Amino acid sequence: MIDINKEIARLDWSKEPKGLYEPIAYTLEAGGKRLRPTLALIAAECIANGGLLNGDAIEKALPAALALEVFHNFTLLHDDVMDKAPVRRGRPTVHVQWNENTAILSGDQMLIEAYKLLSDVPAEKLPQVLKWFNEMATGICEGQQLDVDFEHMSQVTIADYMKMIELKTSVLLANAMRIGGYIAGADEVQQKALYQFGLHIGLAFQIQDDLLDVYGDPKTFGKAIGGDICCNKKTFLLLTAMETADAESKAELLQWMMASDRDTEKIAAVTAIYTRLNVREAAESVMEEHTAIALEQLDKLPQNAACERLRELAEKLVTRKS
Ligand code: IPE
Ligand code: IPE
Ligand code: MG
Ligand code: MG
Ligand code: MG
Repeated sequence: MIDINKEIARLDWSKEPKGLYEPIAYTLEAGGKRLRPTLALIAAECIANGGLLNGDAIEKALPAALALEVFHNFTLLHDDVMDKAPVRRGRPTVHVQWNENTAILSGDQMLIEAYKLLSDVPAEKLPQVLKWFNEMATGICEGQQLDVDFEHMSQVTIADYMKMIELKTSVLLANAMRIGGYIAGADEVQQKALYQFGLHIGLAFQIQDDLLDVYGDPKTFGKAIGGDICCNKKTFLLLTAMETADAESKAELLQWMMASDRDTEKIAAVTAIYTRLNVREAAESVMEEHTAIALEQLDKLPQNAACERLRELAEKLVTRKS
């Protein structure tokens, strides 16, 4: 089995100018769950039937897996500027450790590095992989724009939110699955199942991220708690609270959404409203629905050890703490 952390550590960032490359090394060495490359590699392994069918299929999926992780890390540099986030993976974010210009430019370079890695995808598979990768990248930009637009909009529905997180988060997981599987020889039915698996675990994954942003432990989560509350992010929690609140709680929530200079108090007050309205339970039930849809897709894939790992991973994601 490929050790993805080892492969990422082999990427060489000891280049000049240091101001451009050191933040890239800093970001990639900080770890994280490595979810996207892991999904791509397990999808490849599942389709190649553990290597029995197509021995080097998993190896061939590695450049795409690395490209997906470098691309993901690029989005985090820019996302942290957009969200004014101070901490990631337990360390100061790049725009805090250096400055915003650095986060922008090192982020841009990471996007280019992702495409350089992608160019090592087997030539006969590259046109289709490139098409999906580009679709995914555009989807993320669209989702990120909606995410910031929603901060200043009062009439956002849960359906709007689901579309937004499908774009900003799920399409990356879905394409990681589809690209990994396709490189290993997945047919169209399998490609679709892999994509849908990634899409639905992605929806559950982002709702869990919203939950951890409120209820997580900063030590394990590695990010500041309450960031979404401070900038009035239209998270699953806020929208559910607004939909289910009695008049009094709704007025209280609206009041807090106008407060911009009392962060600590605001986080405590809004969290208390969420807890009172049981939004956590509502979130968990939607996460379970999407995990179930994801798990159904696995029936359409070869039933082997890799498929079993996908099942375990999907089940674990919704109870994750980091
Ligand atoms: C963070 O992704 C961005 C979201 C889509 C919530 P991860 O939670 O996968 O971050 P790392 O890579 O493990 O740090
Ligand atoms: C994740 O959204 C989407 C992208 C990074 C593209 P968040 O803004 O919720 O991610 P975190 O919580 O900062 O990791
Ligand atoms: Mg963010
Ligand atoms: Mg964001
Ligand atoms: Mg978040």
